[in-house]
Amino acid sequence: MNKNYYITTPIYYPSAKPHMGHAYSSIIADFFARLKRIQGFNVYFLTGTDEHGQKIQRAAKEKKMDPLLFCNEISKTFRDLSDTLNLSNNDFIRTTESRHARSVENLWNILEKKGEIYLSKYSGWYSVSDEAFYTESEIEDLDGTKKAITSGSKVEWVEEESYFFRLSNWQDKLIEFYDKNPDFILPETRKNEVVSFVKSGLKDLSVSRKSFNWGIKVPSNKEHVIYVWLDALTNYLSALNYPNENDNLYKSFWPADLHLIGKDILRFHAIYWPAFLLAANINPPKRVFGHGWILSGDEKMSKSKGNILDPLEIIDTYGLDPLRYYLIKEVSFGNDGNISQDKLESCINSDLANNYGNLCQRVLAFCDKNSNFEVPDYDNFTDDDILILDQYSKHYENLIKYSDDQEVNLYINFIVEQLFAANKYFNDQEPWKKKNDKFRMNTIIYVALELIRKVTILLYPIIPSSSLKVLKIFGIKEDKINFESIRDNNYLRKGLKLSKLDILFKKIEKK
Ligand code: MSP
Repeated sequence: MNKNYYITTPIYYPSAKPHMGHAYSSIIADFFARLKRIQGFNVYFLTGTDEHGQKIQRAAKEKKMDPLLFCNEISKTFRDLSDTLNLSNNDFIRTTESRHARSVENLWNILEKKGEIYLSKYSGWYSVSDEAFYTESEIEDLDGTKKAITSGSKVEWVEEESYFFRLSNWQDKLIEFYDKNPDFILPETRKNEVVSFVKSGLKDLSVSRKSFNWGIKVPSNKEHVIYVWLDALTNYLSALNYPNENDNLYKSFWPADLHLIGKDILRFHAIYWPAFLLAANINPPKRVFGHGWILSGDEKMSKSKGNILDPLEIIDTYGLDPLRYYLIKEVSFGNDGNISQDKLESCINSDLANNYGNLCQRVLAFCDKNSNFEVPDYDNFTDDDILILDQYSKHYENLIKYSDDQEVNLYINFIVEQLFAANKYFNDQEPWKKKNDKFRMNTIIYVALELIRKVTILLYPIIPSSSLKVLKIFGIKEDKINFESIRDNNYLRKGLKLSKLDILFKKIEKK
């Protein structure tokens, strides 16, 4: 089995500071990166910023700044956010780097040489905010302003000489590709939208612009800059040192296993990107997953709508792991979701403080008082013990499948069930009444410690720093976390001295 795994976030436009929607894409990607790593995969996790195009050029101009200096500043806030979100990314790519220009130019040259690109004239609608071309049927007139129906962004009329990519030639091959790779686009509902869009007919795509200059120049005609989406998508190759196809990174990690993106940019990833790659004779990625939006009320949270929630403020107030946990659990993955402080507080109290935190604290406190804060020697397991311990081996294959199929909610639901079950087990077994049956009491402590260890391993990709604090009490370091060990019911060695655990999550007094 190929044990390499390449996962990417979208690269973010540094047109304004990051918001919760961006944090969401990154946190989910980090969840999968960590999950795959503890399953023994050699993971390459990429994120970065998408710095060319008219949108960025205009944003820089508004600030009266040189575009590159402007990008340097805002790209840094995204890089800092990656640290604040505790992302385990291996690289952070900026499309203004020379390694990227080399890769885009190479891809362009191949497409041009193969006759997939030709020079003509574009006239039609363009949205700078979406960096997308729209047909007449995709726009509407709202109070005298023309807007794209799907995004609500303003469009403007463009008429200029442009290079075109022969997308219309790839319609049948794309359909064939989707048929052969039924899981290429997930979730299923999104896939159906894409397939019917492709079946309804594809027009050739304008892939260069002449009326501004902030981008990578067309190698054979410096008056044109390459369309920002052709430029941006290629980042996934550039980071692997493409065009050097003999490079180890490229050989190990291309094609990508998972491009994790928001549903608004599915068309670019699920239609244009595989078409460019097929046309250049490069394997397309294995999967594109389009997640939903973080809403503010009923609307997409976005800079242009001015309804953004700052992830940094939330993290300052509540800490990072609660935010990660909330976004992963409370947003039904693939659908839109909401975040509010009130909901976040309820989630922290019920799941993190009462359920998980409480389990850890009470078991450890009992162990401290009654078994010298050591993993005790234990007697035979009873049926009750085995029943709860075995849940992990019983559901092991399912958990792997949830990871492979991006079934985030099924994965976390299993954890929540196990947390309830573990607390209930400890209550029902009443170890405090077994002081004259030392072996039974010790066995209950042992089982409870094993349950904490197992569930904490499952929690690690969601709340890494809190999980590491808990695993540390058992002496388990980050690079030794082994997903498979959740199947083991006797992992903890008797006599192992445990170390202290500080309060993990403070309960929030709600007003
Ligand atoms: N630069 C392009 C992506 C190029 S990838 C080759 C872009 N950038 S973006 O900054 O506008 O958006 C980046 C990601 O953030 C997208 O996946 C988008 O869906 C996501 N989000 C932006 N706002 C969002 C929400 N309110 N909710 C969830 N994610 C959303 O598009």
